[in-house]
Amino acid sequence: FVTAGPEEAARRAARVVIEAVAESVAAGRAPVVGLATGSSPLGLYKELALAVDRGQVDFSEAYGFALDEYVGLPAGHPESYREVLVAEVCRRVGLAPERLHVPDGSGRNESELAAGAARYEELIRGVGGIDVQILGIGRNGHIGFNEPGSSLTSRTRVKRLSSRTRADNARFFESLDDVPTHCVTQGLGTVLEARRLLLVATGASKAPAVAAAVEGPLTASCPGSVLQFHADALVVVDEAAAAGL
Ligand code: GLP
Repeated sequence: FVTAGPEEAARRAARVVIEAVAESVAAGRAPVVGLATGSSPLGLYKELALAVDRGQVDFSEAYGFALDEYVGLPAGHPESYREVLVAEVCRRVGLAPERLHVPDGSGRNESELAAGAARYEELIRGVGGIDVQILGIGRNGHIGFNEPGSSLTSRTRVKRLSSRTRADNARFFESLDDVPTHCVTQGLGTVLEARRLLLVATGASKAPAVAAAVEGPLTASCPGSVLQFHADALVVVDEAAAAGL
């Protein structure tokens, strides 16, 4: 879906989340929303906050599941994705922080991190799966932190961050050296199990990644291309991000 600008993209994407929440409530289930960090979904989160104020949607019974988390940031670090999502989503839309789940990046070694990742998969299963997974896309086509080369059937696991992604995210830290080297991310197989996928991308810098994900071959070189595999995936882009289509 192509919109004139980022504001309209945010409104269109918010409608999809509101619909998905209404469907879960109608089916008698607590809504489960998959949350992405990054700048792409921020407008969407603001639109959802407005919709909450207007009484169009209610997140008090909903669960939030983050796509990913950095490894090794101390608890409460402002750039940890838990803190970012509490500030950008929980506080805005009234989702209780206790109902927000984030992959556990606190493990001190590979086996602790792997155990945390397995627990995360169980938690998602335990609430009946994700109703709508919000996604952004990295300039190299990554979704969550599934960098190019990620297995198309991967599950939640530890990944090393590519140098390009670390450089892209250095703006949130004091220096490039402060950007964590590893993360825990939902896998592409995990993402594909959500009932709906909703990818939001705006701005010219995303045009090549959007074109590769939507119209390129289905390939691990562009993790975003897995959306082509999903029966209910919507890509909402503004004209600048759609320029390569
Ligand atoms: C980060 C996140 C992704 C996000 C991507 C794009 O690395 N882990 O989930 O989609 O980068 O970020 P932005 O939306 O700020 O361009």
